Amino acid sequence: MVFLRWLGRCRPASRRTYGTLNVLGKDYPTDATTNVSPTILSKLSVQLHTQPAHPLSTLRSLVESHFPAYSHLSSISPVVTPYQNFDLLSFPPDHPGRSVTDSYYINNDVMLRTHTSAHEVDVFSRGETKWLLTADVYRRDEIDASHYPVFHQTEGCRIVSADAAGMQEIQDDNARLEDHLRRSHILIQDVPHLSPTNPCQPAHDPKHTELIAKNLKLSLNSLILRLFGGKQAEGEPLRVRWIEATFPWTTPSFEVEVFFRGKWLEILGCGVIHQATLDNSNVPNKLGWAFGLGLERIGMVLYSIPDIRLFWSRDLRFLSQFKQGEITTFKPYSKYPACFKDVSFWLPIDTTFHDNDFCDLVRDVAGDVVENVKITDTYVHPKSKRTSVCYRINYRSMDRSLSNDETNALHAQVTSRLWEQFRVEIR
Ligand code: DAH
Repeated sequence: MVFLRWLGRCRPASRRTYGTLNVLGKDYPTDATTNVSPTILSKLSVQLHTQPAHPLSTLRSLVESHFPAYSHLSSISPVVTPYQNFDLLSFPPDHPGRSVTDSYYINNDVMLRTHTSAHEVDVFSRGETKWLLTADVYRRDEIDASHYPVFHQTEGCRIVSADAAGMQEIQDDNARLEDHLRRSHILIQDVPHLSPTNPCQPAHDPKHTELIAKNLKLSLNSLILRLFGGKQAEGEPLRVRWIEATFPWTTPSFEVEVFFRGKWLEILGCGVIHQATLDNSNVPNKLGWAFGLGLERIGMVLYSIPDIRLFWSRDLRFLSQFKQGEITTFKPYSKYPACFKDVSFWLPIDTTFHDNDFCDLVRDVAGDVVENVKITDTYVHPKSKRTSVCYRINYRSMDRSLSNDETNALHAQVTSRLWEQFRVEIR
């Protein structure tokens, strides 16, 4: 979708008053940065990944059962500081992820984690060396079948002593994993562990980094085999491809894609943890790897779930289809009629407006009744230089037919909130 990216932050023209916001039982003062909505806050206590029989819970436990010797963490509050979410992981000060258009802030000093990596330093600081952490993460984003402002990730980390004993442990594990993978029907398209564009960190011995990167790859290939193996067409191997990547807290870094039902699907990011992150965690003499896995991505393909909103459905026609520990194909129960409605407006000349502001407002008014939002027109007036935009909202419930009156009422609310919050002129 071609959206209005990066026109900047839209500050509501109406004068805002600040107060306090109760999040998970604690009061926080609000300020000009506050951008969490009641709809988003209502998601915090749901914890889909621990609800028995829910597909996300089954995926979490499948990953956990693949790493039995690891600590399994899953009830850590999503309320973190930008320092935890970004600074401790060496995100540069101008990283776009920090912006209020991309992330949810309770106030200037407190936010909702945008990824499970936000807990790496805390968990390492507690002395954990092999652990998995599954949690809900929050990002402001567009509205369509595969984007939702809350989704789930599993973070996995392993660190060992940066000495002969630690390296022996890794070497033994590599031999075990290599043996297992050699006997499996898996085709791996690899990239070198180290390359000029994906180098060793200055603080590390390249031989150690090679062993760690190899352990990371073998561990993840065998996890992927567990999740996706045995589901290929007769005689077809499972195909996995490794790609060089960049993350602020890992070097070398990689992304992994799996070929499933005719498409390459990106499922995780990973890498060798930066020495700075380990120093921040008070474990300067360790070395290791980390990965972050997107559970909805995997769930949508493994269970054939066509729309990410379904994960949040309370409808028994959805929930009763699943059993804990079993991956089964979702049977759609019905497709209800869609209702498209357009809204066009002029942006005030001095305002900055981001499509995520619009999508968040729509979510706040209409929740999961919106299937997608597309921008259908952008026009800059040649004389006044004012910008006009047109968004098309597709209202469609997953569980029932919407009446015309209901859709009209929702759309009217979207339009009036647009004016109240952003002082845009509706056309
Ligand atoms: N946190 C990253 C994301 O949300 C995923 C990720 C990448 C996690 C690399 C990691 C890692 O632990 O090493 O996109």
